[in-house]
Amino acid sequence: MTDQVRIVEVGPRDGLQNEKIPVSVEARVAFIENLVKAGLRRIEVGSFVSPKAIPQMVNSDQVLRAVDHHPGYEFHVLVPNEKGYEAAKAAGAKVVAVFASASEGFSKANINCSVAESISRFTPVIERAKADGIKVRGYVSCVLGCPYDGEVKPSAVAAVAKKLWDQGCYEVSLGDTIGVGTPMKARQLLRAVAADVPIKKLGLHFHDTYGQALANLYAGLEEGARVIDSAAGGLGGCPYAPGATGNVATEDVVYMLEGMGIKTGVDMQKLVAATNEISNLLGKPPVSRVTSAINASRSK
Ligand code: HMG
Ligand code: MG
Repeated sequence: MTDQVRIVEVGPRDGLQNEKIPVSVEARVAFIENLVKAGLRRIEVGSFVSPKAIPQMVNSDQVLRAVDHHPGYEFHVLVPNEKGYEAAKAAGAKVVAVFASASEGFSKANINCSVAESISRFTPVIERAKADGIKVRGYVSCVLGCPYDGEVKPSAVAAVAKKLWDQGCYEVSLGDTIGVGTPMKARQLLRAVAADVPIKKLGLHFHDTYGQALANLYAGLEEGARVIDSAAGGLGGCPYAPGATGNVATEDVVYMLEGMGIKTGVDMQKLVAATNEISNLLGKPPVSRVTSAINASRSK
């Protein structure tokens, strides 16, 4: 259990993509710089998607260019197709993420095509990225339930994860997009997918809608998974996943891991400061329990 865990901080992308108040490029860059200072080494900073679909992520090229100067750090961006890939490459992206779904309903709502069509859209992206020396991460959404189709079978998730892995994604992140999973289901899912993709190459991307994310992560760690996606302050959500709330909070993940003797390299005080700053800007308190506890103990 004490093997190192890699955290992928998704706050600046997943965290902000569904916010009502638009966050300026300057504020997004400041948030990312604060996360860098806190010791987060892999940060998803934006998306090259349709501005009509996600206006919050407009000018992700400017954000990427502004932060992409820290040696040894990875700044990830989402790309849904070749158009997005070209723009990401032009902005200097070194890691892009393609995003598929295990369910047809979410695929159609989110990226306006079937699961099979999405995979064929990603094929040229992955091929070009390989030739360009750009790493590609793969996402599979709705791995523990879909807001449109309901129950999702582990075999459906495994089939999509295998396709992304076989095409050359270096890691496949499993999204509980609407946060409905529970630990035994998460465990069974990982066992099914790990038959096709090595468990250490699977990311756990769990939203916390029903308060199960930390428990699900713990089950995943017991299964041998070692990559966790989380968002500072527990920000997050997707406009095409009605009812879903934020990602598991990075502070809560770091607190749990450190408590288990797993070193994260993250400075909690600086991370809490980053969360407080973005929360003030958004005008709402962080949902992270750890940040709330630290803030409360300071104000005593
Ligand atoms: P479409 O309408 O089928 O695309 O959308 P299209 O090819 O017909 O093009 C329509 C318009 O979009 C055209 O512009 C294109 O140029 C433009 P127009 O002629 O109308 O002015 N367009 C683009 N513009 C900028 N960048 C691009 C791009 N592609 C086309 N890359 C499309 C299909 C995929 C583009 C659209 O549905 C889209 O952008 N969807 C993105 C949705 C999204 O970002 N969702 C959130 C991220 S996924 C998520 O949050 C889940 C995750 O966190 C994991 C989890 O929690 O499970 C990752
Ligand atoms: Mg997500």
